[in-house]
Amino acid sequence: MNSPLPETLLSRLLGAERITVFTGAGVSAESGVPTFRGNEGLWKKFKPEELANLSAFMKNPDLVWEWYEARRRIIGSVQPNAGHRALADMERLVSSCTLITQNVDNLHRRAGSRNVVELHGNIERNYCLACGAVYTGADLPHTGGVPRCSRAGCNGLIRPDVVWFGEMLPEDEWEGAVRASASADVFFSVGTSAVVYPAASLPMMAKQQGAWLVEINPEQTTLTPSADLFLQGLSGELLPSSVNALKEGR
Ligand code: OAD
Repeated sequence: MNSPLPETLLSRLLGAERITVFTGAGVSAESGVPTFRGNEGLWKKFKPEELANLSAFMKNPDLVWEWYEARRRIIGSVQPNAGHRALADMERLVSSCTLITQNVDNLHRRAGSRNVVELHGNIERNYCLACGAVYTGADLPHTGGVPRCSRAGCNGLIRPDVVWFGEMLPEDEWEGAVRASASADVFFSVGTSAVVYPAASLPMMAKQQGAWLVEINPEQTTLTPSADLFLQGLSGELLPSSVNALKEGR
């Protein structure tokens, strides 16, 4: 049993006009998608410098493509969890609710969230490095290894539409994230170690602009000392109880 949520959380949620939620890999952990850091994290088993940057892709596109294919297979075989579903409910309950995610797994959209800012891209989308043509899983040419663009005369390499190390975040998404952070009354940071910048600057940006900062995580992070409320535990439990409290309080 979780301990009851603090009254201050309920009163802040009920009084909030704008709620912004910032998520990381931890929200998908209970669906069975591995996180990046920690003992079982992806970056313990794989080297990001060999897999998640453009020069690695140019050097060995088949290897990098296959790594993303393996992650797509995992993501395709799992379901959104109670935490994802609670956030989709929150969007329906609150007049202005923005979900900013670092996750590329598309599980927030699959759970029903619509106002989603995808800061690090989406693993289900791909694009041609040469001409920019967009491909989803369904329309991807399957040739074995990295696919090539099927537009007449192109034949460019197709890459996943995810942000790799050393790359800029998509401009529109970043601007949307900054706006939603700076204008939030309550800002949740959920399931993220908050160490990858510039995304990790958003919680403090929100707090400095007056938001009440709530962190949900089973572990303390570098953000924890600055949080107005640290809810220690699983997002698949604490997000549904927060949203249920909001429903009952309305
Ligand atoms: P991390 O793997 O760095 O952190 C995951 C966080 O989730 C940790 O703080 C865990 O304690 C927490 N966590 C684990 N299980 C949880 C649960 N059930 N409920 C709530 N929290 C839980 O993942 P991110 O912070 O998302 O970037 O990593 C940020 C970025 O680093 C990723 O977007 C990716 C990676 O390199 C790119 O690929 C550009």
